[in-house]
Amino acid sequence: MVSLHGLVLDRLAVPIVLAPLAGGPSTPELTAAVSDAGGFGFLAAGYLAASALAERLERTRTLTEAPIGVNLFVPGTPAPPQAVDAYAARLADDARQAGVELGAARFDDDNWAAKLELLMATPVAVVSFTFGCPEPEVVDRLRDAGSEVWVTVTGPGEARRAVDAGADALVVQGAEAGGHRASFRDDPAEDVTGGIGLLSLLQLVRAQVDIPLVATGGIGSGAAIAAVLAAGAAAAQLGTAFLRCPEAGTAAVHRQALAGSAPTTVTRAFTGRLARGIRNRFLDRHGAAAPAAYPELHHLTAPLRQAGRAAGDAGLVNLWAGQTYELGRQLPAGQLVRTLAEEARAALQQAQARLGPPPTPRPRKKTRGAEQP
Ligand SMILES: Cc1cc2nc3c(=O)[nH]c(=O)nc-3n(C[C@H](O)[C@H](O)[C@H](O)COP(=O)(O)O)c2cc1C
Repeated sequence: MVSLHGLVLDRLAVPIVLAPLAGGPSTPELTAAVSDAGGFGFLAAGYLAASALAERLERTRTLTEAPIGVNLFVPGTPAPPQAVDAYAARLADDARQAGVELGAARFDDDNWAAKLELLMATPVAVVSFTFGCPEPEVVDRLRDAGSEVWVTVTGPGEARRAVDAGADALVVQGAEAGGHRASFRDDPAEDVTGGIGLLSLLQLVRAQVDIPLVATGGIGSGAAIAAVLAAGAAAAQLGTAFLRCPEAGTAAVHRQALAGSAPTTVTRAFTGRLARGIRNRFLDRHGAAAPAAYPELHHLTAPLRQAGRAAGDAGLVNLWAGQTYELGRQLPAGQLVRTLAEEARAALQQAQARLGPPPTPRPRKKTRGAEQP
């Protein structure tokens, strides 16, 4: 809750945030375990009906009294139907081979209004937003209900807009991140840059805004947590690092892929929005042809991905993972939070020792020329 004692970030025992992990991995058990360990757990609301979110919130509240957050997807705009139809035609063979019908490629707003109403009625400590910036009026209403508002940004321009809209903190997402890139607009024209890496982005955003920053993307060790804290972040938000925890709802095929070492890349092949995942058959076959059409392609490919998970065929599944997924550990979430915090403390001590105290100025030697009359 927005409290007299400062922001949630100022009160965390451990500056580690569990990223919202929509599409299966997010569970009340995972959220509660991270918040109970002194970090801050998010519950993903993406893809859920308001009633399903209400159930998950209720379950989480039975598991922990610690503060938690909920993450919402900001709705976009419908894609041109021709682009979606052409992509659907490409997938006909894959659907036949998997023995499924493709899904209806519909646009929707992910139950935006109903989920907002739910969160106004039963507020959580933080509501974070992804894929856009809520209107200032939405920010005000959530704050009036008692929640802090965090907005995920991928560039300094988005950071300024989020601050103007009244955000309390920014989740700064580097290009290393697993899952969807959180950009306000998914613009294929920007793909050539590859996105801004986390350390660069933290510096660029810090130069523009002065509200607290939560760093996310490719953080897979305590040393990386130490690095983003040193770069001015108030906390580190980790997603992929928690996917192998027993409390996560990560599918078996996804867990297996996370234990391997295939490269990651970004693709629109599965959902129509740019996302980072482990390369596989479907991504390699269709990535180059996939249009920017979210959530139409998400609905279109859902039966294929479901079939892949059921049959144990990782080649059909969106294997979201950040660039450091190989560092992932199979530990209970609370233990992982404690281990990462220990590692971060050790890394900061080492860095401090290397830097040492400021050098004391040496007395300057007189030069020969000065000695001459
Ligand atoms: C499986 C998965 C699901 C994700 N779902 C969401 C989501 O629902 N909302 C969101 O803001 N970010 C989501 N993300 C992105 C994370 O918030 C975060 O930016 C990312 O995990 C950071 O990079 P890392 O995975 O290397 O830690 C997801 C990431 C993954 C891997």
